[in-house]
Amino acid sequence: MILRIDGKQIEAKKWDTILSAAKRNGISIPSLCHHDALENVGACRLCVVEVKTSSNGERKLVTACEYKVAPHIEVFTHSEAVRRSRQTTLDLLLARAPENKLLLDLSRENGVESTSYSTSPDANECILCYLCTRACEKMGCNAISAVGRGQGKSIQPPFLTVPDACVGCGSCAAICPTGFIEMIDMPSKRVIWGKEFERAKCESCGAPLIPVAYREWAIANRELPEDYYLQCQECKRKELASKFSGLGVS
Ligand code: FES
Repeated sequence: MILRIDGKQIEAKKWDTILSAAKRNGISIPSLCHHDALENVGACRLCVVEVKTSSNGERKLVTACEYKVAPHIEVFTHSEAVRRSRQTTLDLLLARAPENKLLLDLSRENGVESTSYSTSPDANECILCYLCTRACEKMGCNAISAVGRGQGKSIQPPFLTVPDACVGCGSCAAICPTGFIEMIDMPSKRVIWGKEFERAKCESCGAPLIPVAYREWAIANRELPEDYYLQCQECKRKELASKFSGLGVS
């Protein structure tokens, strides 16, 4: 299917969103709450673009991560309406995380130097993009959710206690765009959400691996052989190489 983005004709698949079609064609649209492996929820509003439909020629603002492409639509990623929407969004996001480098960089790129809103002393780095809760849900753990209201709303374990359901996989921290979720990895343990996890060790070299609780969870819930989790990547690679060399393959 053919559509136009910023005057450029591009080819899109019928299951594409504007964001996925744009990305594949090298057109950049800023986004904070989108991840290819997760459902889109349109939380950050940063990917807003303007769309002109062929049916009535009307132009409207839509979130590029959620809007499915249609034949002959025209998309504008840098119109005046888009610029104003992006600036308002960044102004609001900055009020939640006024010192966050990623947000500051994005804001400056879009002509916003600082937030025009008052920031509370509790302003934290959580911008409520829900990537972490969606990743945790996708894992099947549901250990964290949004708690609190207004400026104080953020992602936490239920009742702000150590979350029983967390297995220490670290997906939430890895996917968080602002670094709000703190995960500390030490050789013997991982600490996240106030919970400590003993780390497994590579059975060949003793290097620290994923937490034992995560390994047990993964063995029970993923279709990988149990011994997949017993060695570090380096030892697996060496073992494989020596098997191949034994076969005369180099
Ligand atoms: S990336 Fe589309 S709303 Fe956040």
